[in-house]
Amino acid sequence: MKILVLAGSPHKKGTSNTLVEEFAKGAKDAGKEVEIIDLAKSNIHPCLGCDHCGMNGDCIQKDDGNEILDKILESDCILFASPVYYYNVSAQLKMMIDRFYAKTGRISAKHLKAGVIMTAWNSDENWTYSAIDKYFDVLFEYMHFVDCGRIYGKSCGTVSMIPKHYYQEAYELGKNI
Ligand SMILES: Cc1cc2nc3c(=O)[nH]c(=O)nc-3n(C[C@H](O)[C@H](O)[C@H](O)COP(=O)(O)O)c2cc1C
Repeated sequence: MKILVLAGSPHKKGTSNTLVEEFAKGAKDAGKEVEIIDLAKSNIHPCLGCDHCGMNGDCIQKDDGNEILDKILESDCILFASPVYYYNVSAQLKMMIDRFYAKTGRISAKHLKAGVIMTAWNSDENWTYSAIDKYFDVLFEYMHFVDCGRIYGKSCGTVSMIPKHYYQEAYELGKNI
């Protein structure tokens, strides 16, 4: 199984990428192939809504976004990884999600497995992830993604703050996804 991680943090050694590393260990221990795309270091521009692609063609942007779309189409599973930025995913990740537009039909036809790993400074159980969770509900429904698990890290403001149980949860998600 090929897993593509869309990693949306600008911190290579930050909290979400720390849990992504655990996820990757679990996945590799279970014999899965993992590729991590560092979206913050990639050259990606926003969807212009120009409809050149007609939702099923080539994007007019000439950047890494097109290669990432090809990699998604060659994968069996996507992991969305991001810090919480103003109670949403980071702009780095959202920009790539918007670029799905050029291949929406082809991506959704694959019924890809999908998971989420996010980290937030906040610890409130009730609302830290309330909007984000709804967002992934509808994104997964629209894109026909098969939900394989979401880790919503709370009290994860810095790497040293990450509660230990999230390491195990991330490893298990990678192993079982
Ligand atoms: C621009 C920005 C916006 C943030 N917004 C939130 C927020 O809305 N809620 C929250 O709990 N933490 C917020 N944080 C804190 C980060 O989510 C938190 O520090 C996270 O661990 C960073 O992840 P990373 O190390 O993977 O980049 C924000 C941080 C930044 C830089």
